[in-house]
Amino acid sequence: MRNIDDIVQGRRLRRMRKAQWSRNLVRENQLTVNDLIWPIFLVEGENQTQPIDAMPGVSRLSVDMAVEAAKKAHDLGITLIAPFAHVHFEKKDVTGSHILDEDNIILRAVAAIKNAVPEIGLMTDSALDPFTDHGHDGVLRDGIIVNDETVDILVRASVLQAQAGADIISPSDMMDGRIGAIRDALDASGQCDIAIMSYATKFASAYYGPYREAIGTSGLLKGDKKTYYIDPANSDEAIREAEQDIAEGADMIMVKPGMPYLDICRRLKDTFQMPTFAYQVSGEYSMIEAAAANGWVDGERVMMESLLAFKRAGCDGILTYFAPRVAENLAKN
Ligand code: PBG
Repeated sequence: MRNIDDIVQGRRLRRMRKAQWSRNLVRENQLTVNDLIWPIFLVEGENQTQPIDAMPGVSRLSVDMAVEAAKKAHDLGITLIAPFAHVHFEKKDVTGSHILDEDNIILRAVAAIKNAVPEIGLMTDSALDPFTDHGHDGVLRDGIIVNDETVDILVRASVLQAQAGADIISPSDMMDGRIGAIRDALDASGQCDIAIMSYATKFASAYYGPYREAIGTSGLLKGDKKTYYIDPANSDEAIREAEQDIAEGADMIMVKPGMPYLDICRRLKDTFQMPTFAYQVSGEYSMIEAAAANGWVDGERVMMESLLAFKRAGCDGILTYFAPRVAENLAKN
């Protein structure tokens, strides 16, 4: 029988794992507060904090409360906030026209947060789904999501968002050609310093379920989003999507959902060497919370490990509903 030293030829990997100091010394990736992007949910009214059943620990906030949350987030060192809106049904229609109303909740929240906490970054979603009465991200006509007409609306919405104070426009609709069209319109309106983070590879995923409750579109969605989001079976197609968005002017690219798509994060980072982000979406958040609430996993540790995994996969940052908790956790340790 051979002895272990002959088998490993003296290369014992456990040597560097033996103490905390040596593990620290060889650690390859680190999660810091600079990696955190915090998505928040907005609702009309004042002094509102409405818990979201499907996302324990997450609430919809009225604009005044969102301003307070932004101050706290900034104090914790969070870099960027991404607001999403719960819109009253009466304001929704087939083309999502409320996205172009100058007093819609997103534009008001952006202006209020920018005014109160100018140092924190703000990223707005350019997509119609909170505003359409059918829950799709685009204009629905004869059962079809009409690409170019949707892009025209998103272009105008993006310029409004930039004028309200958004630092980054984040198209999450997956229409073809929207990055280039938005880039041109921002430049033409004198907003050449506003960046674009493209939801370059957004998959037709079941993990978005709790988000739909959060923004109040759960019962509304007619059909599914398979004609414009990417098939979860595809990876080469994700490369082609990202390549096109980069060519059209995206400054940063995003993968969504996150945890089940770490292979996509790694492929995009290796292929393009672009700032690459992942969205740990609502369903991922709620799965961890549900298992933790049942005592099946240590929620705090799974939260930290799930985010560190994005760094290992090549991501520069993560959109996560855990952001404030992670920031507190990082400050403690
Ligand atoms: C749509 C959009 C979605 C999310 C953010 N913007 C998905 C969808 O409704 O299909 C999901 C975010 C999450 O699940 O956390 N523009």
